[in-house]
Order: sequence, then C-alpha cells, then structure tokens
Amino acid sequence: MSKTCIAFIGAGNMAASLIGGLRAQGLEAAQIRASDPGADTRARISAEHGIDTFADNGQAIEGADVVVLAVKPQAMKAVCEALRPSLSPSQVVVSIAAGITCASMTQWLGDQPIVRCMPNTPALLRQGVSGLYATAQVTSEQRLQAEALLSAVGMALWLDEEQQLDAVTAVSGSGPAYFFLLIEAMTAAGEKLGLPRETAAKLTLQTALGAAHMAVASDVDAAELRRRVTSPAGTTEAAIKSFQANGFEALVEKALGAAAHRSAEMAEQLGK
Ligand SMILES: NC(=O)c1ccc[n+]([C@@H]2O[C@H](COP(=O)([O-])OP(=O)(O)OC[C@H]3O[C@@H](n4cnc5c(N)ncnc54)[C@H](OP(=O)(O)O)[C@@H]3O)[C@@H](O)[C@H]2O)c1
Repeated sequence: MSKTCIAFIGAGNMAASLIGGLRAQGLEAAQIRASDPGADTRARISAEHGIDTFADNGQAIEGADVVVLAVKPQAMKAVCEALRPSLSPSQVVVSIAAGITCASMTQWLGDQPIVRCMPNTPALLRQGVSGLYATAQVTSEQRLQAEALLSAVGMALWLDEEQQLDAVTAVSGSGPAYFFLLIEAMTAAGEKLGLPRETAAKLTLQTALGAAHMAVASDVDAAELRRRVTSPAGTTEAAIKSFQANGFEALVEKALGAAAHRSAEMAEQLGK
C-alpha cells in the first residue's frame, strides 16, 4: 500500500471509517481522495483526514489504483454506469455495497477487475470482519490492496465463491444484531431475577466482552471452552440444558438460513 492511491466514491460512515483506518496505518493523505454529493460531508471528511474531496466521481478516480464504491446499494447502478467511461482496466473496483453482485457490476461498469466485500458495522470502531471475493481479472497485487484496505478496519477473510457472501452476510454482516438481541434478552432476564436494570445490563455487556476475548485468545474451540465452564449438575449446565431442550441450535441455524436467503433475494432485486 506504500504508493497506492485510493479513491472513495461516497464519503459516508463506512468510507470515513476505512479512511480513518488507512490514515492510522500510515497512508499519506495525498494517497486518498473521496467524492460525495454532500458539501458538508466533503468538508467534514476533508477537515478530519486532510484528503482532497470532489463533487464529481469521475474526477476523484483519475489516476487512482483502487476505486472503492461506498455508496448505498440502491445508488450503485447509477454510480457505476456514470463511472464507466472514466475507469481504466488497470483500476481495481472494490465494492462494499451489500447485495450487489459482480455480474451486476460488470454489466454496469464493463469488464473491470472487481473485489466484492461484505464488512460489518463494528468496522466503524475498527473491530469489523469482512468477507472478500475477487473476480478472475483481479491481480495478486490488487488482492493485496483490497485486503489491506479492509484490514484497516478489522479482519479480512477471502472467499473462493461469490455465493459464500450470502453466508458471510448471515453470520457476520447481520451478526452484531444477534448478539445485541442476546444482550437485550439476558439483561431483561437478569432484571426479572431481581437485579436493577443497569446492573443487569453491565453484567451482561462485560460478560459478552469477556467471553469474546476468552474465545479469541483461546487455542481450543468454543464448544470446548463451554465444556470447561460447565460443571456436571451445576448452574451453567442447568441453563445450557434449558437452551438445548428448547432447540437453541436449530433456532440459530434457521435464523441464519433466513438471513442468507434474504441476502440472495436482495442481490437479485438490486441487480435489475
Ligand atoms: N455501515 C455499515 O456498517 C455497513 C456494513 C456493511 C456494508 N455496508 C455498505 O457500505 C455502503 C455504504 O454504507 P454507509 O453506511 O457508509 O452509507 P452512508 O453513510 O449513507 O454513505 C453513503 C454516502 O454516499 C453518498 N452518495 C450518494 N449518492 C452518491 C453518488 N452518486 N456518488 C457519490 N456518493 C454518493 C451519500 O450521500 P447522501 O447521503 O447525500 O446521499 C453518502 O454520503 C453501503 O452500500 C452499505 O451496504 C455498510
């Protein structure tokens, strides 16, 4: 990434986090530009990161090695079609737009190298995780550039098949909300068991954080960690048995299946 020039189309939340992450990793302001229709958005991102901004997308990508499409999925078709005449085949297009397939982008952009990514919201705190898929035209150097870009806001994992992005959407894309739901439910249950709401919330949050840290630091998988903290006939076992008797695993499988199905369905609708 030492000399890579990156142009962001759309300077909203995700672009701002990616730019912040890249700057924190030592990328020069001169290596980054952004375009956005909003004058306030441009002024904000320029003031915060010292980068050049443009109202015109075509101008922003002049001479860039990497073009990051960071607009809402609904805006992708118009943005791609308008960019098409300004793009050169040596520029890799990195899309973070949920649900827009490489086939749709190729139809709108022409035969560009494309990396399609699915980040998640914790990227805003540089704690995200992204799935990445590259089309055959993407060179190994461009793969490294895309990986470095997404790594600036968390972990980046390559996928062999584009379809797997539906599963990534189901697991990590939508995943933060599942943990929020569990946090909500545990807080409410703690309150019903007699704790003040604020205490129940703090206990739940710190437990979630501690458990995640333990799981990340551990050299054994989550199932083994769970076994280790579940003594026979103890309190944890009573709760786990209750979860499982009520079909917890099947419930999770069904929920993620619904998310993956919806992701594929949306890709079809948005690609028209
Ligand atoms: N936020 C997340 O956690 C997350 C997670 C995974 C994937 N994503 C994907 O990331 C993309 C961006 O999301 P976001 O949350 O950063 O959205 P956002 O904050 O709304 O940013 C999008 C920006 O693009 C601008 N824009 C609209 N039309 C444009 C055009 N024709 N040319 C250039 N810029 C244009 C918007 O301006 P206006 O507001 O004036 O329209 C806005 O400033 C989305 O496709 C989303 O699916 C986001």
